[in-house]
Amino acid sequence: MAGQIKDSPRECPFGDAAHDEWGQDCPIGDPAAMARSFDAFGGSYQLNPAEALRWSRDQLPVFYAPKLGYWVVTRYDDIKTVFRDAILFSPRNVLERITPATPEAQEILKTYGYGMGRTMVNEDEPAHMERRRTLLDHFMPDKLEAQQDMVRRLTREKIDAFIDSGRVDLIEGMLYEVPLLVALHFLGVPEDEIATIKTFSVAHSVNTWGKPSDQKQIEVAHDVGRFWEYAGAIIEKMRAEPEGTGWMHHTIRMNVEKPEVVTDNYVHSMMMAIIVAAHETTSLASANMFRTLLEHREAWNDICADPSLIPNAVEECLRYAGSIVAWRRQTTAPTRLNGVDLPVGAKLLIVQASGNQDERHFEDGDTFDIYRDNAIDHLTFGYGAHQCMGKNIGRMEMRIFLEEMTRRLPHLRLAAQDFDQLPNISFRGPDALWVEWDPTQNPERADAKVKTPRRSFAVGPPARRDVARKVRIADLHQEAEGTLGLTIEDPQGRPLPKWSAGSHIELCVGEYDRKYSLCGSPDDNSYRVAIRREDLGRGGSRYIHETLQAGAEIRMRGPSNLFRLDESAPHVVLIAGGIGITPILAMADRLKDLGRSYELHYGGRSKSTMAFLDRVARDHGAVLSLYAGDESQRMDLPALVADLREGAQIYACGPKGLLNTLEVLTKDLPEGSFHFEHFSSNVAGLDPEKEQPFQVELSDSGLVLNVAADTTLLDAIMAAGIDVACDCREGLCGSCEVTVIEGEVDHRDMVLTRAERAGGKRMMTCCSRARHGARLKLAL
Ligand code: FES
Repeated sequence: MAGQIKDSPRECPFGDAAHDEWGQDCPIGDPAAMARSFDAFGGSYQLNPAEALRWSRDQLPVFYAPKLGYWVVTRYDDIKTVFRDAILFSPRNVLERITPATPEAQEILKTYGYGMGRTMVNEDEPAHMERRRTLLDHFMPDKLEAQQDMVRRLTREKIDAFIDSGRVDLIEGMLYEVPLLVALHFLGVPEDEIATIKTFSVAHSVNTWGKPSDQKQIEVAHDVGRFWEYAGAIIEKMRAEPEGTGWMHHTIRMNVEKPEVVTDNYVHSMMMAIIVAAHETTSLASANMFRTLLEHREAWNDICADPSLIPNAVEECLRYAGSIVAWRRQTTAPTRLNGVDLPVGAKLLIVQASGNQDERHFEDGDTFDIYRDNAIDHLTFGYGAHQCMGKNIGRMEMRIFLEEMTRRLPHLRLAAQDFDQLPNISFRGPDALWVEWDPTQNPERADAKVKTPRRSFAVGPPARRDVARKVRIADLHQEAEGTLGLTIEDPQGRPLPKWSAGSHIELCVGEYDRKYSLCGSPDDNSYRVAIRREDLGRGGSRYIHETLQAGAEIRMRGPSNLFRLDESAPHVVLIAGGIGITPILAMADRLKDLGRSYELHYGGRSKSTMAFLDRVARDHGAVLSLYAGDESQRMDLPALVADLREGAQIYACGPKGLLNTLEVLTKDLPEGSFHFEHFSSNVAGLDPEKEQPFQVELSDSGLVLNVAADTTLLDAIMAAGIDVACDCREGLCGSCEVTVIEGEVDHRDMVLTRAERAGGKRMMTCCSRARHGARLKLAL
């Protein structure tokens, strides 16, 4: 591609402001001015959209950009809200030209009979869901497994061709052609005109998402017109082979069987759109992935040493530097988004690249971390009814590229180069990616067995068990009677990811995976947790107390934060029971640092068993109330709740009895007044003898699933190719929550309050089910 945007990290984020440094004239600090200055074709947005929109995420998450004529949406939750409702936020403008065609370009297109109509990405309901259901089957993970060998063979052939050269443009050498060949194979389209398709797909991208000059528009219009003719010719060729295999053959057969659903124009438009969609995004994402990993050498080295990290590393690359930066929607009625009124017909630019680094969802979101345990939540594939159908093909290719390259060329490095990219609002990726290595050091020269693949990964989202980093126990000491204090560090002295108050990690020790809240200082390079021995528990804490030694290397997941502190609350009441002090202490530290109003209530069986007493007294003595059971001191919970100031919030962690009591006492308080975190779950495994099967309708995805008695709702949804975040799988963490539209839920989680359960609007898919085998309808 003819690139025009070059890396220049110190450019002002406001396109035409022409500041060489972020100096005094730069409008940071005035969100309205920043909104007015926002230029989607400006260098900063083009180079690093998440960074260029940080001010928006923090100050003005939905704003009107007059230069573009679009409302820009930058926070994770808002983007998901927009994706979730494909009726109110119609996709009809997804393929609309961002730069209107000149009259001359329009005339040229007419001469080719160009008639691009609706395709899967930009059509409204109900037509969209009906077609999607008709054509979805080929994209299911079980159908894609058979393609893995073909992808690996193509990848290996390309690597064989350059492995002894010592230097290659990875895009030219592999990352362009393999995705294109895979796409053609998947579609069933003949492979003989790759060069033609390449020219056409660049033209299609510039035509739709770029800002071509009037002169360039003429050239592009001819290419787009020829592409339209070419797509039509391929379809005719394919119609002559009614038994042909591949998704486009299936689509053509559906066109014959159900012409009112899969129309002629739909087939033609889809052919043109999918040739581009099926490979450009994967090529760009793969190039971004190699660049990102080679720029973060430790991550690259970790993958070389442990290929099981690859699937999650791919998700993190898609989050941190995905190829799809932004997508579009248009309102079909006046509405309000995050406090901003949007008129009917408002055009929205929803910037996934910004949402993907939103700290409100991704802990330390700016940091690239292949061990991030919610990386899969990224929005790069979109979400809901229009989520990218080819996501599992892209993932599969990226995993195979990485598995082959890290094994055969672990000594690969980025060559010195300027990165160029095609200016456009929606896609990101370099035009070329030069890498180099010393061929004499190729491992397969010393050991031919290196050429043999070590493993393949199941198609679909990453297996959670693989997402764990090695850490070392730097210190282990008695924190209180029955409680161990652990300090955890990276074995190579690297800083561990940043975290926020309320975060937890999961330690994988022996056969046990157990979660513990972080209670040190977020500024430290190491983590601190405290682990109470539970002799009547499931064995994890006992095992840790009896076997773990200082210096031991174990695995760890996280940090994750599912117990977030609202730092803007006018007053916070912190309540800790026993070892529940750990997240509460981190919250108290944070509130004190911020100078916020708070009080801390900490109770335990006896002072000798209460961890961090000295520290709590030293740092929070002025607001602290202590309750030692053996000294007959009890928290007066009814009084605490009754005295709550207006707008105040309660955060509590402790034993079930404490939390249940608080839940009852706070049931009449305004929503959002009471937040809690449980230690342990009520969920035992599913007993198919006692469970009933039920049906669930996923309204955003247009699917109806049967959930068998021996299957969780979460597993049934994931098996249908819908990604749902999940962490604990036992109703404790809240990460698998979905919105319930209809149906009665049998709630079994420890996350929702009684009022939330009674409201019937939310449920945890890992453990909760339909009551008495009823049918559920979910917003998913
Ligand atoms: Fe944690 Fe469902 S995965 S509540």
